Amino acid sequence: MEIFTSKKPFTDYIERQKEMGKKIGFAPTMGALHQGHLSLYKKADQENDLIIASIFVNPTQFNNPQDLEKYPRTTERDLKLLEQTGVVDAVYLPEVQDLYPDGLKSKSYDFGGLENEMEGKSRPGHFDGVGTVVEELLQQVKPDNAYFGEKDFQQLAIIEKLVENLKLPIKIHGAPIFREKNGLAMSSRNERLSSSQREASKIIHETLLKVNDWFRIITVPEINKRVKDIFDDQRGMVLEYFIIADEETLKETDFFYKGHNYRAFIVVLVNDVRLIDNLHLD
Ligand code: PAF
Repeated sequence: MEIFTSKKPFTDYIERQKEMGKKIGFAPTMGALHQGHLSLYKKADQENDLIIASIFVNPTQFNNPQDLEKYPRTTERDLKLLEQTGVVDAVYLPEVQDLYPDGLKSKSYDFGGLENEMEGKSRPGHFDGVGTVVEELLQQVKPDNAYFGEKDFQQLAIIEKLVENLKLPIKIHGAPIFREKNGLAMSSRNERLSSSQREASKIIHETLLKVNDWFRIITVPEINKRVKDIFDDQRGMVLEYFIIADEETLKETDFFYKGHNYRAFIVVLVNDVRLIDNLHLD
């Protein structure tokens, strides 16, 4: 597995691979890797000749400086995990100037309104930061296929829109959420939970499963109330938001219309750790 820590050697390497006609699969990350990330590379390996990983904690997508500061950085361990997959050919560990040659600022994007829902409301500027770094990474890696986890379902939708708007010849693939044994969605942020918090946080997925049972049986306002009641009773947890949204527009719904697909989205703060999850309603 090759490791590149700056732009020029990395983009030269990509050029050589492209000249050899290699089909490139890519999954960018911010490190603190878990099985969910590793599954992206295994999936990519089935459809590509060359697998590229990147690790870069992107400052412009954090609207909370403390969240950025506390974000786990475990590069040595991450590199071992990537090596152990046996499928990753190269890892890109860029410096800020490799991705932001004109300084750390975001571009401003129009993602057709997707950026104004949920995380867009809770974290102003977040998707401009994600768009800026992902656009630059895609320009440098030039993958045929790029892979993103469905845990950040809104991010996945936004990246699909970004690639469509920029007419990049890249296919974006979503991969299902990887869960711990107790159902908690795998996340780099889980590393900041104590073992008892990790156990207690299983209530997030359990609640989504209950919502799925209630889907099209009770009304949306009643579901919203029941979810709120569940978290009102949880010590050390604050429900930041729960909504049921149309899977295409990501707009909150208060009624289940025929012929539409819906997904439940939830964000819970466990002390100061922000946990995000979602479930397709079936
Ligand atoms: O999902 C992430 O880890 C990040 O948002 C991404 C896509 C790597 C961009 O920084």
